[in-house]
Amino acid sequence: MYRTHTCGELRLEHKGQTVTLAGWVQKARKMGAMTFIDLRDRYGITQLRADESCGEEVARAAAGLGREFVIQASGVVEERQSKNPKIATGDIEIRLTDLKVLNAAQTPPFTIEDESDGGEELRAKYRYLDLRRNPLKNALMLRHRMAHEVRNYLDSKGFLEIETPFLIKSTPEGARDFVVPSRMNPGEFYALPQSPQTFKQLLMVAGYDRYFQIVRCFRDEDLRADRQPEFTQIDCEMSFVEQEDVLNLFEGMMVNLFKKVIGVDIKSPIPRMSWYDAMDNYGSDKPDIRFGMKIHEITSAVQGKGFSVFDSVEYVGAITVPGAAEYTRKQLDALTDWVKRPQVGAKGLVYIKLGSDGIKSSVDKFYTPEELGKVAELAEANTGDLVLILCGAKRKAQTMLGVLRIEMGNRLGYRDPHVYAPLWVVDFPLLEWDDETQRFYAMHHPFTAPKPEHLKLFYSDKKEDLEKVCANAYDFVLNGTELGGGSIRIHEADVQQRMFEVLGISKEDADYKFGFIINAFKFGAPPHGGLAFGFDRVCALFGGQETIRDYIAFPKNNVGRDVMLDAPSRIDDVQMDELFLKSTAQTKK
Ligand code: AMO
Repeated sequence: MYRTHTCGELRLEHKGQTVTLAGWVQKARKMGAMTFIDLRDRYGITQLRADESCGEEVARAAAGLGREFVIQASGVVEERQSKNPKIATGDIEIRLTDLKVLNAAQTPPFTIEDESDGGEELRAKYRYLDLRRNPLKNALMLRHRMAHEVRNYLDSKGFLEIETPFLIKSTPEGARDFVVPSRMNPGEFYALPQSPQTFKQLLMVAGYDRYFQIVRCFRDEDLRADRQPEFTQIDCEMSFVEQEDVLNLFEGMMVNLFKKVIGVDIKSPIPRMSWYDAMDNYGSDKPDIRFGMKIHEITSAVQGKGFSVFDSVEYVGAITVPGAAEYTRKQLDALTDWVKRPQVGAKGLVYIKLGSDGIKSSVDKFYTPEELGKVAELAEANTGDLVLILCGAKRKAQTMLGVLRIEMGNRLGYRDPHVYAPLWVVDFPLLEWDDETQRFYAMHHPFTAPKPEHLKLFYSDKKEDLEKVCANAYDFVLNGTELGGGSIRIHEADVQQRMFEVLGISKEDADYKFGFIINAFKFGAPPHGGLAFGFDRVCALFGGQETIRDYIAFPKNNVGRDVMLDAPSRIDDVQMDELFLKSTAQTKK
């Protein structure tokens, strides 16, 4: 037996017992004739003590230990002279009787401490060492707990966990697909699923009316803190349901997870907001409602006064930053530069300061103090506040104001990661027009159904009509992050055909890419709907982080590389030939 106990287990009640532990040397300190060793495993740290009474062999072994050596240590549990209240085993230590080095270790390239001295790249290269640190260990433990509770909850509601394939057909409609060449089918490729969307719908056609899967998804898209090229979804689908049934069931799941995993009580019902209100008031389809600072439209109050910048745009909007009238010229210039960054995309920033000595603004020459006062009133600003104004095409300007609002919320400390404000965003438009390609895209995905009351508009040929079509689509949003989304689906072949037509996908193309699902709908497809949560995101936000990387054991970096494996990498010519591939890229060897 390698060990009788773990390194997190022993207490004063074990005093006098002979025990054996195994683990990694966190540190070894020599103090005169004694050596103290902190022994670490997944469960905690226990102090070992080697002194003259332990015999020469143990003393010699203890003296030769280095950081991260793997050892097996036997001895007697004793009360510590100086206790350490910071760790669970801090009242005791083990006086060694035997010490075996199971495996020596090179000095690790960074410290295995809660606050490591290693940079991100280095820690990624030695991920298995980084994973020894508490913050990562705690993240993975939370993830495990979460998966366990998800399964319990969904099982209790009659859901079946069913696996779906990873090698599927390429049907890029959202992000780009990752593709896999097929050796047995020369020149043909599989795609890795961006989500099991079509399979779960086929399972509904097959009669499995409550499906779920904690499943890996793959998307070749630009990465951000909350995006990985492979990530995990809690993917769910139900038959014979309406939007209300889906929202209630998954609201129950989230409330249950909050309670069971992090002990947080979430008030149910979780608030709901239409997509239109979210955009108008928060400039985002995933509003952070932990704080106010809503967007106010001020277009009519500022147009027609000779300020051509405002006169020439569709929309002017403002947010009020409480207590920020003291912002200096320098701070406002810096903020103006900030909104001009490509990530925000504004051309400039107009401000109104409501100082105790009166109103000042960057557009004083176009507006009287009364006119500025009227704008401030519309923006619900009071003395001491700062009004920030952006303009442009309506949705674009609102989105920029939304980004600015989040930034100001961060600066003012309104975004405490341990305050949780969930929200359902509902009533999404079905379609989104793209000026560049001059076509509609599905706002959620092409399998989302138009609201039944909008079916007539859906069959109209007019762009304005199609823009008005709404869907029973919904997102679960937490603290400004989209944690999940779903919809009631199309379940009739002709409606699905029409959807592809609206999306500009020809009948042949639709048949080639999606024939299987259109066909399936001809064989008795029940009304159905569902959703998927981004599991990594749920874990990270529950853990108080916005970055999902630490909640994934072996993540990719921000250009999609696995730094530890050094992947992706070239494959050799034989493999290329076997797969009928030739590369035109000038890649590094
Ligand atoms: P959607 O594309 O909205 O919906 O994805 C669902 C959720 O998955 C998470 N997510 C990601 N997480 C990490 N990295 C990524 N690259 C990434 N992309 C998405 C988000 C998102 O809310 N099949 C539909 C769901 C449905 O309609 O049932 C779908 O995949 O948290």
